[in-house]
Amino acid sequence: MPASPSCAIVIFGASGDLAHRKLIPALYELTLQGLLNEHSYIVGYSRSAVSDEQYRGQCREAVEKHARSRPIDLEAWKRLEGRLFYVQADYGSAEDHAKVASRLDQLDVKFGNEAGNRLFYLATPPNTFEPIITRLGERRQTRQDEQHPRRWERIIIEKPFGRDLATAKKLNGLLLNHFTEDQVFRIDHYLGKETVQNLMVMRFANSIFEPIWNYKYIDHVQITVSETLGVEGRGGYYDRSGALRDMVQNHLFQLMALVAMEPPVALDAQSVRDEKVKVYRSIRAPRTADVDTFTVRGQYAAGEHAGHQTEGYLKEKEVNPASTTETFAAVKLYIDNWRWSGMPFYLRTGKFLEEKLSEIVVRFRSPPLTLFQKQCESPVYPNDLVIRVQPEEGISWRLNGKVPGSQMSIKSVALDFLYHTTFNTEPPEAYERLIHDAMLGEQTLFIRGDEVEAAWSVIDRIEEGWAMSKNPPQSYAPGSWGPKRAMDLIENDGRRWLHSGNGAPEPIIACAL
Ligand code: BG6
Repeated sequence: MPASPSCAIVIFGASGDLAHRKLIPALYELTLQGLLNEHSYIVGYSRSAVSDEQYRGQCREAVEKHARSRPIDLEAWKRLEGRLFYVQADYGSAEDHAKVASRLDQLDVKFGNEAGNRLFYLATPPNTFEPIITRLGERRQTRQDEQHPRRWERIIIEKPFGRDLATAKKLNGLLLNHFTEDQVFRIDHYLGKETVQNLMVMRFANSIFEPIWNYKYIDHVQITVSETLGVEGRGGYYDRSGALRDMVQNHLFQLMALVAMEPPVALDAQSVRDEKVKVYRSIRAPRTADVDTFTVRGQYAAGEHAGHQTEGYLKEKEVNPASTTETFAAVKLYIDNWRWSGMPFYLRTGKFLEEKLSEIVVRFRSPPLTLFQKQCESPVYPNDLVIRVQPEEGISWRLNGKVPGSQMSIKSVALDFLYHTTFNTEPPEAYERLIHDAMLGEQTLFIRGDEVEAAWSVIDRIEEGWAMSKNPPQSYAPGSWGPKRAMDLIENDGRRWLHSGNGAPEPIIACAL
């Protein structure tokens, strides 16, 4: 991988959870791998009063606790530590922004960041986006410099990117008032996950998939992103959001788009994102009257989970006790295009479910000729392609194989590709890849403005339907797979939810051959 060009990385929200758990550990890993330019440096920007020394202490703690490579490599840590700084400043104050800008100019000289490049990372709550973007935009005007025609300024922006189409459009408008689209990096950390990127390699670097990758050979696709934790102290944010906005609009839709998109003409940002936008535009959003046929909402109740008694969602801190916000969502969608016509995609996600798992299952149609069916006690199993995003990243095929012996018995067997056994290494954390890409100016794994808007227009239709629906979220027990209606959603179609941790293996089928 190329080392990145030198830049100042400014983290807004430096004392927040994301910076602590993900961003600083990712910057440490990049330092360890020699991917952070030696002339780059990092400035934490936040409202709390913290000195440079205290900030370095907090960062060290973050690395020790959350970095992928542990124990800490002291030599790499020293290299990073000497480049960490902190400023206490207000997000909306022009004066404070000016103060930070002059600190950056001094640090450019100290570290030899000659081009004066800037990477601004907005890891702050959405109500701070507008003042920060506006102030950065104003300062950008004063930094136009003919001496440095190649100087760049980029902005990484964390979700939530709006809460519906109107607010997303407003935020896009604000950003594009001050920056150009090629300077804006809307992050979805799922795109940085190794298996998600591998989906493109699998589909477009192998010739066996393309001919069968359509409704003629595939029965349906299901995508599960399940979590074993509740809202974990984020009740205030979550109650205004819910599972559909928090997870489906971004992470699950991204996975679906990568499965469904047409082969791009090139692997560059424009070509890949053009294809994803086409997928979103082809989604048939359920009509208001049909919303309960195509979607399910759930909310976790009190119960026992992982050996502990847990409170129900309505008792969570900062959650309205009468809230109808969903902590579980399942949707059945159709993509109305030539490739996927009439074939359902089932998506589900939720908090406090049985397992932590992110997985795509592509279920193929049964063989057209019932050769084995005639003489076997039950039909042979359909083939599944399982793409496991986490944990145990990998891809596996489920095929029918003969059980050794003189009898003809058939068993569903797996051909497994597991990252850690094949490559003898754990895949990098999503944020490492994404921050590095942003420094390189590579936007393929970031969301484009029209993409985010196209995704919201589908979500808005579901939210509108829910607002009119007479069915409130159905409660479910923590540690289960969600509400009963989620099972009905798929079982009414003669299918069932599949996932790799799915209980007992399929029974052997005996045949009279
Ligand atoms: C975030 C959501 O985007 O993704 C969280 O806001 C969720 O609610 C998290 O817990 C899940 O990410 P991962 O990488 O743990 O699957």
